Amino acid sequence: MKGIILVGGLGTRLAPMTRVTNKHLLPVGQFPMVYYPLHSLVDAGIRDIMLVTGGNNPGAFLELLRDGREFGLDHLYFTYQQEPKGIADAARCAQHFVGDDCCLVMLGDNILAGSIRPFVEGYQQQGQGARVLLAEVPDPERFGVPDFDEEGNIINIIEKPDRPPSSYAVIGVYMYDQLLWEILSTLQLSDRGQYEITDVQNAYLERGLLTYDTIDFAWSDAGTPESLFRATQMVHDSDFLPVVNTKPSQ
Ligand code: DAU
Repeated sequence: MKGIILVGGLGTRLAPMTRVTNKHLLPVGQFPMVYYPLHSLVDAGIRDIMLVTGGNNPGAFLELLRDGREFGLDHLYFTYQQEPKGIADAARCAQHFVGDDCCLVMLGDNILAGSIRPFVEGYQQQGQGARVLLAEVPDPERFGVPDFDEEGNIINIIEKPDRPPSSYAVIGVYMYDQLLWEILSTLQLSDRGQYEITDVQNAYLERGLLTYDTIDFAWSDAGTPESLFRATQMVHDSDFLPVVNTKPSQ
């Protein structure tokens, strides 16, 4: 399984902090934001990881992370999203890297207080389709929100609904098979001018190929001043922190 971390976009909700730098380089506790998703993937056993950069200072990720040795990796891979046209568009930038494999796409501003390894293993046993992770949240209107039938199956996911059909958010950790690339090639721009990752989940859902797990640990995005503050508090109280070898490279 290949890992993809999305660190493009303009981070406008964090302006002026993001006017001259990239959101994913801002500090969350003792590490830059991007360290957290990278740690999540490495902890889950994923060793082939590509960062999709874009927005401000895309080159800074190479300077910061180098070859990934600090995380025990042999290599890290980087690519570039030309314009911030949405999460699904950013994922498409890594198609050449994933090849015939399946992949896990993680948003660079999502921070988890626990391991996703069991969910990744569950997806690998599933063998095909897609799997998303849900978290119960007090403010679902900020996220992709699942609607459930009486048996607890997801019947639809709505992006930032005015009237959330449930109190769950689809968090920014998505596992996909090869069908992803076909779905991405059929997506239309949304009303806000983006290729929406929620449209990808719904396309899997229509084919009966979407499963989910609900996480039982804390999670936060870090894309607004309030959520960045919450994420910082969360990592302060968390034992699940990036494990990095900070010895200088030879
Ligand atoms: O945090 C989970 C939520 O993330 C999901 O519940 C939503 O369904 C999903 O749409 C997303 O919502 P946001 O509005 O928070 O996404 P945002 O635009 O902040 O983008 C999240 C990350 O994706 C960001 O940290 C960098 C990356 N990104 C985003 C865009 C728009 C890119 O790499 N390129 C892009 O063009």
